[in-house]
Amino acid sequence: MSRLVIVANRVPDPKEAGPTAGGLAVALKDALANRDSMYFGWSGKTAPQTGTEAALHRHGTTTYATIDLGHDDYKHFYQGFSNAALWPVLHYRLGIARFDRRDFAGYQRTNAAFAAALAPLLKPDDTIWIHDFHLFLMAAELRALGCKQRIGFFLHVPFPPRSVFNGLPHAEKLLEAMEAIDAIGMQTEDDSENLRAALIAVGKGDVALRVGAFAIGIDASGFAKLAAQRAEAKEVKRLRDSLAGRSLAIGIDRLDYTKGLPQRIAGFGAMLERFPRHRGKITFLQVAPVSRGDVAMYRALRRELDEGVGRINGQMAEPDWAPIRYITRAVPRPTLAGFMRMARIGLVTPLRDGMNLVAKEYVAAQDPADPGVLVLSRFAGAAVELDGALIVNPLDPDDIAEALDAAMDMPADERLDRWNRNWAKVKAVTASVWCRRFLSALEGTKDVADAGQAEAQPA
Ligand code: ADP
Ligand code: G6P
Repeated sequence: MSRLVIVANRVPDPKEAGPTAGGLAVALKDALANRDSMYFGWSGKTAPQTGTEAALHRHGTTTYATIDLGHDDYKHFYQGFSNAALWPVLHYRLGIARFDRRDFAGYQRTNAAFAAALAPLLKPDDTIWIHDFHLFLMAAELRALGCKQRIGFFLHVPFPPRSVFNGLPHAEKLLEAMEAIDAIGMQTEDDSENLRAALIAVGKGDVALRVGAFAIGIDASGFAKLAAQRAEAKEVKRLRDSLAGRSLAIGIDRLDYTKGLPQRIAGFGAMLERFPRHRGKITFLQVAPVSRGDVAMYRALRRELDEGVGRINGQMAEPDWAPIRYITRAVPRPTLAGFMRMARIGLVTPLRDGMNLVAKEYVAAQDPADPGVLVLSRFAGAAVELDGALIVNPLDPDDIAEALDAAMDMPADERLDRWNRNWAKVKAVTASVWCRRFLSALEGTKDVADAGQAEAQPA
């Protein structure tokens, strides 16, 4: 089997996908474990100039190859074009995107620098797989340097309708650069349709044929086992004891405005207002480690949440009960798995999300003898598969309130039936299934459009 070269801006710590690493890093960990591979990307450090020669570290079957980002590239490529322009636009939030020509220049420069540092490390029969929105231009840059290897690309985030995407300055340049890619993977069929339409509109109908939907998954049985093992761990027991018999609702997200956190908190507050019999009977724990904390919109969100949580707790708390517990520090994954298992309700209400792995993790973490209820945004990619969840409009606090009320009262047989439906889907499309499907499309054993969609229906 040829070597697999994964390229992503964020390179996880090989020992553990860190607490704020996000879904991409978590999903790829599994993919790398069983094959001779290289993982190329940003070291996570900044330096006066972006690196030209990667630092190499071997871990298991994988060589980690990383470069530092220059201060200017960190500012314009990472904070600027990637996180203040592309991220909001791809999540349908054109109105809050910030555009600056220097940011796009930094984006082009950094994509080219990544390609230049990777090219000398490549072997002729490598399979190259580039990930996510930071690196739309990299395949074209590799081709310009003469690379002939197969190149795949996976977008972990949504792709909006063309009318939204075209609000992004230089949108056409990103689409045209996709010509260099052999297979393009998206999370859902809607995302694929949107990208295909955008490509066709710029005269790239040939590239549109290489786009397919490949829903990403988790290591389902591994996570289930972890959650079961941690159920009696010290920190988990400490949380259980502190609840004094109350039900737990849990939210776990990077502190990101796409996750719908202020709306979720408002929904929880609305539930306590409208259904007062639940007061004192439920505690909502939101774990939201700070992410991209030096981008302006993220700082503003943090202030908004501090205020929102404080307001609801101030209004509703009793001397012996606070409705919301809110943690912005990182919590180790095993502990989170144990917390998820204990939670009667999992609240996953992003305003827009490529997939949302937390939704799948919550399902996997449940005790099959007494599973909790997933409340899931219709705007998460996961909603396509997880139809056993209570599906809500995350923008509507009353909808969230009603789902919370229904979840609190849901009889055990309905909980079990809904969980069984979800668990079947989570088990069927794991991280390794996702990886195999995409790579079989890229490596030519399957047609791209078919490989994803045809198998997306679990058996
Ligand atoms: P995103 O990729 O936008 O961050 P996902 O839900 O797809 O969203 O993936 C997030 C991943 O990061 C999940 O695997 C989740 O368990 C993990 N994660 C999120 N918050 C924390 C946290 N506080 N501590 C540890 N892991 C976390
Ligand atoms: C999401 C994105 C990833 C990104 C992660 C964490 O999962 O899809 O590409 O790596 O968030 O964000 P960060 O900016 O810290 O890499």
